[in-house]
Amino acid sequence: MKSDRSDNMPTPQEILAELKNVKYPGFSRDIVSFGLVKDIQVGDAGVTVYLSAPSANAEAAEAIVREVEQRVAALTGAGRVRVEVEAQDPGQQARQAMHAQRRKPAGTRHVIAVASGKGGVGKSTVAVNLALAFSALGWRVGLMDADVYGPSVAIMLGGKQPVTLTPERRIIPLERYGIRYISMALFIDDDMPVIWRGPMVTKLESEFLFNVEWGDLDCLVLDLPPGTGDAQLTITQRVALDGGVIVTTPQEIALLDVRRGVTMFQEVSTPVLGVIENMSYHLCRKCGRRHEIFSHGGGARMAREMNLAFLGELPLVPELREGGDRGCPLVATNPNHPASLAFKQIAGKVRAQLEPGAGEDVAGLSLQK
Ligand SMILES: Nc1ncnc2c1ncn2[C@@H]1O[C@H](COP(=O)(O)OP(=O)(O)OP(=O)(O)O)[C@@H](O)[C@H]1O
Ligand SMILES: [Mg+2]
Repeated sequence: MKSDRSDNMPTPQEILAELKNVKYPGFSRDIVSFGLVKDIQVGDAGVTVYLSAPSANAEAAEAIVREVEQRVAALTGAGRVRVEVEAQDPGQQARQAMHAQRRKPAGTRHVIAVASGKGGVGKSTVAVNLALAFSALGWRVGLMDADVYGPSVAIMLGGKQPVTLTPERRIIPLERYGIRYISMALFIDDDMPVIWRGPMVTKLESEFLFNVEWGDLDCLVLDLPPGTGDAQLTITQRVALDGGVIVTTPQEIALLDVRRGVTMFQEVSTPVLGVIENMSYHLCRKCGRRHEIFSHGGGARMAREMNLAFLGELPLVPELREGGDRGCPLVATNPNHPASLAFKQIAGKVRAQLEPGAGEDVAGLSLQK
């Protein structure tokens, strides 16, 4: 973003803030969080806003351009306003047409996916505890473990139990701590060679998503396999996601990994709800103090640079690992632990993005600061 302007002109940041009011037609989300605003240039001659091709639907695209022009022109001193729209490649049009066919499980209001550029960053820990934090906010929540190679959701929630079917042969999800969940682990024999698992993935994923008797859910959380390759794309192409959450750690703040996650969600026209920095600092069990073991804060910085929301930092605490290993997740078993409170703050932020009217208020949860 460039500013080469006289004093009374708005800054690119002010313009960006104003553009957050432009809703994508038919969605409650705005064009900034959809990643459509590519650049803003402010010069003495006026303002130019660069948008990526907003939609295959010409009417929606025109409506967006018109509203951007009107809103920027209404800012004091903006001068002449130009909106440049990048040409859309035919491949993108085809992808968008395909995405229009995506759907959600019946009765599910929101679907979000938790992803990471790399394995082992705490994605499943975040997915499980975030699901529990949504539940603490009063939401009915489902959790689907889509990781066929290292499924851990079932273990984190209390182990493998047999899955039963309805008379119509629909899968009845397991339930623990008020969360309905289903995991690849429940269908795959531990002894099954990894080489056989691949072909099962595609089949199981569609069963999971659309053949599970989820009932009415406010939110279904998908724990994606680590990485941003074909397996992740297959799932995100099939389900109409409302948004993606990217988990990272201070060590791998490598922009590249997060950027890969962002690109994956962009490929499937899914907004990124934000970035979570896990194992951000160490919270000492004995003294209760915070120790900065890695230089934390990179997640927030990077999110800012990439124009993404930063959802929060989670501490490195042994209780989170132990809770996961024993099937007693921290947010459920120790809801006022500082890490649990951090999860609830993050859940509030995600909810505020999914339901802009709801706000981030988590006050009803007796949060101890
Ligand atoms: N904030 C944390 N504090 C302490 N331990 C944590 C934290 N987050 C995750 N862990 C531990 O780190 C390990 C990896 O976490 P997890 O399995 O959630 O990662 P993942 O990204 O899902 O991994 P995979 O790529 O294998 O799916 C687990 O033992 C987990 O208990
Ligand atoms: Mg995992």
